[in-house]
Amino acid sequence: MSLSSQVFPVFWYQDHVRLIDQNHLPNSYEIVEISRCDDMATAIKTMIVRGAPAIGVAAAYGMYLGAREIATDDRDSFLAQMESVAQKLRETRPTAVNLFWAIDRMLKTARQTVGSVSSIKAVLLTTAQTINAEDIATCEAIGEHGLAALPPQPAQLRLLTHCNAGALATAGYGTSLGVVRSAWQANRLERLYADETRPRLQGARLTAWECVQEGIPVTLITDSMAAHCMKRGLVDAVVVGADRIAANGDTANKIGTYSLALVSKAHSIPFFVAAPLSTVDFKLETGVAIPIEERDPSEIYQIGQTLICPAGTEFYNPAFDVTPADLITAIITEHGAMQPADLIQLKAKQLG
Ligand code: MRU
Repeated sequence: MSLSSQVFPVFWYQDHVRLIDQNHLPNSYEIVEISRCDDMATAIKTMIVRGAPAIGVAAAYGMYLGAREIATDDRDSFLAQMESVAQKLRETRPTAVNLFWAIDRMLKTARQTVGSVSSIKAVLLTTAQTINAEDIATCEAIGEHGLAALPPQPAQLRLLTHCNAGALATAGYGTSLGVVRSAWQANRLERLYADETRPRLQGARLTAWECVQEGIPVTLITDSMAAHCMKRGLVDAVVVGADRIAANGDTANKIGTYSLALVSKAHSIPFFVAAPLSTVDFKLETGVAIPIEERDPSEIYQIGQTLICPAGTEFYNPAFDVTPADLITAIITEHGAMQPADLIQLKAKQLG
C-alpha cells in the first residue's frame, strides 16, 4: 500500500535544515531555514518545530549544525565542545524524551567514530539524516500496527484524537494521526474528532489542517466536548501520541490527555497511545518522575492580543499531564501493539 502524507516538517536541504513554521499554520505555510545550532535551539523552544519525534529529529540536525561550527582539528577538544552543544539543545524543552534520545545518539556516534574531526562531522550529518528517515518508516509501521489493533466493529470507526501527533509532529506520517491515516486508507475511518487542545490549539490549527489537506473527514470540538460526544455514542476509540512513556506504561502527553483517558474509561471506549520506541524512557519506572514543562502564562491569559481575565489573576500552565497505565488499552509502537505492562519486553530492542 502506498502511504500518503506529503508533509515533512523537518528536512535537510543542500547545506541547511528546513522547518515548516508551525506557529503560522493554518493561516500561512512558511518555511524557516536553519543553519546554526543556536537558531535550532530557539526553533525548538518557540515551537516552530514541535511534537516529540520531530523535536528529536530537529535536535539531531542541531547537533550536526553545532559540530559544524566548532573550529578545531583536535579530536578531544571537539568532543568536549560537543558536550556544550548537547547541553544547549537539552535545555530547550524538558518533557519529550525523544530530544534527549536523539542528542545522546549523536554524542555516542561522535565518540565512537574513528578518524579526523572532519570525518566525525560528516558521519554526524549522515546520522541525523538516518534518524530523520527512520522516523518516517517508524511512523508508517505504527500506522499499520495501529490499524490492526483498532476495534473490529463498527466497520467504519469514529476516532478521537488530542493535540497534533501527525506528520507535523514527526518526520512525516505521524503516530496517532498515522493510525488515523492508515484507517482512512483501509476504508475503516468514518471520521476523526479533533480536540482543539487548549491553550496552543495544536488540534484545531495542525491536526485539522493535516486532515483537510488529505480529505480525511475531521470534526473539530473543544476539549470540554469530548465527554459529551462519548456519552452520545459518537466515538468508537481514542488515539493519542506521547511525549514520554515510563517503563510501566504511564504516559506523558499534551495537557488534557489524562482527562480524556478518564472519560474514555467511564464510557468503556478503548484508549490507545501511539508512539515510537524512542519515546519510552526505560530509566523511569513510573510516570511520577516525568518532568512536566510549564510554559509562559501568556498562553492562557490571552487569545491573540485580547486578554481574557482580569489583572490580578494568577496562572498555572502545565503543558503536559501523565495518564496512568491502567487507563491505557494498548500502546502501539513500531514493534506492534501491546498492553502497557508488556512494554518492558521491548527494552532490549531499544538498547539495540
Ligand atoms: O507541546 P507540543 O505541541 O510539542 O506537544 C505535542 C504532543 O503532546 C504530542 O501529542 C506528542 O509530542 C506526540 S507527537 C507524535
